[in-house]
Amino acid sequence: MLIKDILKMEADNQEITVSGWVRTKRDMKNLVFVEVNDGSCFAGIQCTFDKGKALSAETGLALSRLTAGASVKTRGRLTPSPASGQKVELAAEELFIIGETDAESYPLQKKRHSLDFLREIAHLRARTTTFGAVARVRSRLAFAVNRFFEERGFFLVHTPLITSNDAEGAGAMFQVTTLDLAALAKSAAPPDWSRDFFAKHCYLTVSGQLEAETYAAALSRVYTFGPTFRAENSNTSRHLAEFWMIEPEIAFAELPDLMALAEEFLKYLFADTLEKSEDDLAFFDQRIQKGVIENLKNLVTAKFTHITYTDAISELQKSKAPFEFKPVWGCDLQTEHEKYLTEKVASGPVIVTDYPKEIKAFYMKLNGDNKTVRAMDVLVPRLGEIIGGSQREENLQKLELRMAELGMNTRDYSWYLDLRRYGTVPHSGFGLGFERLVQYVTGMANIRDVIPYPRAAGQADF
Ligand code: 4AD
Repeated sequence: MLIKDILKMEADNQEITVSGWVRTKRDMKNLVFVEVNDGSCFAGIQCTFDKGKALSAETGLALSRLTAGASVKTRGRLTPSPASGQKVELAAEELFIIGETDAESYPLQKKRHSLDFLREIAHLRARTTTFGAVARVRSRLAFAVNRFFEERGFFLVHTPLITSNDAEGAGAMFQVTTLDLAALAKSAAPPDWSRDFFAKHCYLTVSGQLEAETYAAALSRVYTFGPTFRAENSNTSRHLAEFWMIEPEIAFAELPDLMALAEEFLKYLFADTLEKSEDDLAFFDQRIQKGVIENLKNLVTAKFTHITYTDAISELQKSKAPFEFKPVWGCDLQTEHEKYLTEKVASGPVIVTDYPKEIKAFYMKLNGDNKTVRAMDVLVPRLGEIIGGSQREENLQKLELRMAELGMNTRDYSWYLDLRRYGTVPHSGFGLGFERLVQYVTGMANIRDVIPYPRAAGQADF
């Protein structure tokens, strides 16, 4: 039986068996308190051994050898707990150590470890309070994502991870090859990709969007939810080289529909976390980021502010804030600008639209001004950009022209252009960075602490 279910039971002196890992052991004069946690919920269960009662020799020995980190099975009776903060406890009668832990060498000692240190022992960090809570919130969020789309008539599409196209046109891609790199390094000739495994130059995908578009042009509403890879050397607290992205793609939808969907989606996920992760959130609020619960509650009812990129730039230019990067029309918004817009201008989430075409991807729909595209970024206080998306260019000639301007080979994208050739429709989609979402709801400062095994420049341990 899982501890989460045991803790919800009425204590009726019924016999219960608990399996889990020992968090703490306190040996008092007459009693031994052992806190056992199985990760099924935030709390562990207190197992109280009464030395006055005749415990078997085996249990006595196990108790004396027991240390934090050991895996155990214990049997006893569920009784009301006199201790504050817990309704029930186990009046334990029997204890078996399943796997001992050497107290000297066990890396998770009683003291609070720094997040930096725990990153070095990522294989054990899920056993800590913080990472157990992150893992549960992350898992529930993934379910909520799927439920949200299922309830709204979206179909999940598994888009490929190995690809020969650069969906974002940004070039930050990892190459996938089985060519002999050592031999290539010695040879003066350029690689012959036709002799490679896929008979062409291939990469790990940066986004499932282009393939999702092909399914939206058949099933109307689809989404992908999978890992994406970017070889950007950005060593920041909100970038990973491998991250999970949720990308809905909707046919017959224009930018305002997309903005409404993004707002509804985020609010749904925040509300779901408040409801289903109460205990874990209480921990984050107390120990990780004060006010994280209040913030989520406010966001569920807040109206997201809408502003065009051009207006956002003039707001930034009017400000007296000492920006490191001067805000000028045509430049990408920096984190400090995003912070200013959400925290000072809007005091809440902001959807910035209609960016200059030069700083956005080739597939975005061109506005009548010929200068800006129907793009949107959703920015949230504290974190900045959490969602990026756009209405797509559905006009064949305009898209071909834009690709030519960017020097792209339209032959490589003929399948993508077919969508515009045959039964084209206005369509739109966005990408939500899943780790940024988990970061935001938990208040964890570093994105590397919300994914089990972070991959970033110089980091691919385990
Ligand atoms: O704005 P991006 O690059 O958009 C796309 O990839 C589009 N194809 C999405 C679409 O329209 N279907 O990325 C979308 C989101 C960002 O807003 C951010 O939350 C996250 O993905 N993201 C990252 N998260 C972690 N590490 C990185 N290196 C990220 N790059 C983007």
